[in-house]
Amino acid sequence: MGFHNKVIYQLYPKSFYDSDGDGVGDLRGIIDKIDYLKSLHVDMIWFNPFFVSPQYDNGYDVADYRQIDPRFGTMADFDELAKKLKAAGIDIMLDMVLNHTSTEHAWFQKALAGDKHYQAYYYIRPPKPDGSLPTNWESKFGGPAWAPFGDTGNYYLHLYERRQADLNWHNPAVRQEAAAIINFWRAKGVHGFRFDVLNVIGKADKLVDAPPSVASKTLYTDTPIVQDYLKELAANSFGQDDNRVTVGEMSSTTIANSIAYTKPDNHELSMFFQFHHLKTDYKNGEKWSKVPYDFNALRDILHTWGQGLDQGGGWQALFWNNHDQPRAINRFGDVGQYRVKSAELLAAAIHLSRGTPYIYMGEEIGMTDPDYTSMADYVDVEAKNAYAALLGKGMSEKEAFGIILAKARDNSRTPMQWDASGHAGFTTGTPWLRPTNQAAINVQAELAHGEIFKFYQQLIALRKQYPVISDGSYTPFGTEIDRLYAYIRTYGTQQLLVLNNFSDKTMTVPLPEKFQTAKVLITNEATLTPTATMTLPPYATIGLLQKA
Ligand code: GLC
Ligand code: MG
Repeated sequence: MGFHNKVIYQLYPKSFYDSDGDGVGDLRGIIDKIDYLKSLHVDMIWFNPFFVSPQYDNGYDVADYRQIDPRFGTMADFDELAKKLKAAGIDIMLDMVLNHTSTEHAWFQKALAGDKHYQAYYYIRPPKPDGSLPTNWESKFGGPAWAPFGDTGNYYLHLYERRQADLNWHNPAVRQEAAAIINFWRAKGVHGFRFDVLNVIGKADKLVDAPPSVASKTLYTDTPIVQDYLKELAANSFGQDDNRVTVGEMSSTTIANSIAYTKPDNHELSMFFQFHHLKTDYKNGEKWSKVPYDFNALRDILHTWGQGLDQGGGWQALFWNNHDQPRAINRFGDVGQYRVKSAELLAAAIHLSRGTPYIYMGEEIGMTDPDYTSMADYVDVEAKNAYAALLGKGMSEKEAFGIILAKARDNSRTPMQWDASGHAGFTTGTPWLRPTNQAAINVQAELAHGEIFKFYQQLIALRKQYPVISDGSYTPFGTEIDRLYAYIRTYGTQQLLVLNNFSDKTMTVPLPEKFQTAKVLITNEATLTPTATMTLPPYATIGLLQKA
């Protein structure tokens, strides 16, 4: 497939580079940094939303899908950015937030004003006969999922923030609007689309209570009708573009459903994001908790999905980080003694695997979570709600803050650290979110004498050069060895064995004979060579290509 050798970079516009000193990153800032992006050799950039938005959820509350929010720039800036990226060989992936709109969107405003056509765009329901909310569903950001619909006495559904109203995908008019938005951007030369919370668009027409002790999300997540909507959307928009790259954000999905979403014959998506591997440091499935991650669970998930998708012909996005996750290096690596090695290990573990690797802004220089000292540093509505809820449960401020420090989404949204200066070279004004450790970690230092950025460049080049990386099959290896995540990729007669030591201890790994004479394709330990029994230093990674 055309996109299997591509690598995608995720850029959070708000925090990348601020060109006008207002403390918020912007499109002209991105234009200023194109050479940097080009030097990494990524193929496509996924931009988090920069459409008109009141920013109650950082742009995921879209008020106009066809305009650039003034804080990020103008349409002329976008056109210039697109043109310059194209000249640099980089395609654009836009973030389509089509499960919900901002309550400031014209559709919602018209609905509020009484327009029946637009009321049918949303889920507006009367209270139950006893006056209670239409259903017992909870918002993913805390509290009930229903808010009063003006002074009508009715309620509208919001699975996310109160000012993000869920769209009613049963309504064909809504589905046509979605296709028209995608086609608007396609006409501007955009080939990539990321679909926000895609597998919750398939709600039932009749919304009912979740039975006691059943999470409400099980009622509307990953339902079969999502696939019908996707087939239709593809046929009416992106499916007409042979160069498309699409990815759906699928929470709590299954391997079987993911295969169905992405099998080429189904004409739905190029790939999907799943999140099971990023829940291995949740205590009893609860995000707002703090426990070390469970390596065996992580490895098991990576292997089961890697192998399951391979066998079923599905395709996944490979990622450790995004704008909703604390930095993976803090979770699965070692930000103290082994920051560089563990950054490289995490990179190799996914870039040599089967699927499309994503690099989240700052990962390529080994950025870590910020060292915040109080709740005043946090901006995200989810973190604030979670902190209040933890205190509400009787937790001490210290313990609750410790959890926020480890889990908040703002952890990955801190400004890109360009240099060691006060605001990390991100802005001349006051940054909207504070960087903390730029003295130690920044682009300038990394490019001058670091090795992480170069390691990423190497991984990206290898994927282009070796079909065994872009298209090989996936087989787990060495699962009997503690803290080893390893797999074999096979393509024709070529085989690639990838070993990753997910620990701060030396590890020994017996090699199958055919790999004892293999070529070292990449490693973060210069002196490592294959031997009958390999000794892997802490956080070592190595890819061995069998010469056959
Ligand atoms: C997705 C986005 C997240 C946003 C949510 C609601 O999960 O990645 O940032 O808050 O959808 O749109
Ligand atoms: Mg700005």
